[in-house]
Amino acid sequence: MLLAGAMLIAGAAHAQTSLGHIVYDKSCHACHAFGTFGAPRPGVSDEWDSRMQKGLPVLISHALSGYNAMPPRGGNPNLSDDDVQAAVHYMVDANDADTAAQLVLTAKDMLAEQKHFFRATELGQPFFYDMDTHGYFRPPAIEELPNDKYGDEVRLGRRIFTQTQKFAPRYAGRGMVCANCHLDAGRKPNAIPLWGAVGMYPGYRFSSDKNDTLEDRMADCFRNSMNGIAPAPDSPEMRALMSYANFISKGVPIGVHMPGRSFPDINYTGYEASPVRGQDIYHAKCSSCHGANGQGQRQRNADAGYLYPPLWGWNSFNKGASLYKQDKLARFIRANMPLGQEFSLSEQDAWDLASFVNMHERPKSPAKGLLQEFLSGN
Ligand code: HEC
Ligand code: HEC
Ligand code: HEC
Repeated sequence: MLLAGAMLIAGAAHAQTSLGHIVYDKSCHACHAFGTFGAPRPGVSDEWDSRMQKGLPVLISHALSGYNAMPPRGGNPNLSDDDVQAAVHYMVDANDADTAAQLVLTAKDMLAEQKHFFRATELGQPFFYDMDTHGYFRPPAIEELPNDKYGDEVRLGRRIFTQTQKFAPRYAGRGMVCANCHLDAGRKPNAIPLWGAVGMYPGYRFSSDKNDTLEDRMADCFRNSMNGIAPAPDSPEMRALMSYANFISKGVPIGVHMPGRSFPDINYTGYEASPVRGQDIYHAKCSSCHGANGQGQRQRNADAGYLYPPLWGWNSFNKGASLYKQDKLARFIRANMPLGQEFSLSEQDAWDLASFVNMHERPKSPAKGLLQEFLSGN
């Protein structure tokens, strides 16, 4: 499987490495040199392997915002984002020769212009794209669209994505909208951004056992995640969605698994997921928005969909949806929920929550015959 961590964003310009070294000595060494509280030691690759699989952008965001016993910015609020980023690069670089080789040298570029050098190891070719300070792709703003027919088409696609009930009522399910899961209108990294998908289709998918186009993939979300009906590939709705997806992916290389695509992996903790524990966490951290019975909360204007979308029950995604898979739901939750507190839950919390949420009744998968479902208990 392709892991974001296998393909790294470059950051190892010499200037930056020495900056990283200085920051590290001053603010990170105290814990990381000795493994204090379990801090991974640079140069001890065993202690980094599983972390690297999260991908460099996630590691950098953890160093910035804190992570368990790791304080935000190593406890030094005076460090800038770039200082911390440089220190992480330095630590990872020290880790092993292979990793270091994957970090491509770049020019002064990155700090100044935020244009980073990206190397897709599987293609062996460098790419440039616009990046935010965490190393994720920065999609163009909708305001950049021209006021012409093309602009109108993209804006319609965006409206369908964020207000599916209103702009694609024939196909929408019962109140959810695409952007309930694809956060920030499909722009947010680690929340299944559209720009993570556009360069990867057509592509083979195990679940359909064929090469799917991006329209096929969207159709699946209509059928399952939305529990609705799939628009035809040449319908105005699908064309508008495709235009929107392409617009916000401007500059994304084709065939490259972008950091922040989908949601990050999650480890098995060695403990069985516990729905009982999940229920407690749900009531402590989720029910204030999603409701005591997972029913969510509608907006006052029903056309506008949900203020807080449902997590189970008849208006939620159905059993054919990706989020009905335990690991996908756990990964989504950990990277995105509670809203605004991404990555605050432990891996075990996320597993427990996923098992609790998916224990409940929801619509059946339309791909399975009723009898088959009855027999398999799904
Ligand atoms: C007070 C001790 C302490 C200091 C100071 C500290 N760290 Fe950490 N760091 C930790 C601990 C503990 C962990 C492991 C946390 C865990 O996995 O639960 C960690 C983990 C990390 C990770 C891996 C995060 C992940 O997602 O696996 C990175 C990257 C990191 N630190 C960077 C830094 C940088 C950069 C600095 C300096 C600016 C720094 N740390 C300073 C204690 C510290
Ligand atoms: C209930 C949550 C949910 C809703 C609502 C939803 N999706 Fe998805 N979508 C997902 C999940 C989960 C995936 C699969 C992520 C994975 O497996 O990596 C996905 C995958 C996708 C992908 C492919 C992403 C990739 O990187 O390959 C596209 C494109 C997409 N959805 C479009 C849509 C559209 C268009 C709508 C609205 C009609 C929609 N989705 C509604 C959850 C949802
Ligand atoms: C502050 C309110 C808030 C809290 C707390 C919160 N969520 Fe959400 N959640 C949202 C909103 C709002 C969305 C939809 C985002 C959008 O439309 O932009 C969402 C979306 C979701 C989705 C995908 C859409 C769906 O309905 O299936 C899941 C799954 C989810 N949240 C799970 C959780 C879990 C589990 C917790 C507790 C750890 C939690 N949320 C806590 C507000 C919240």
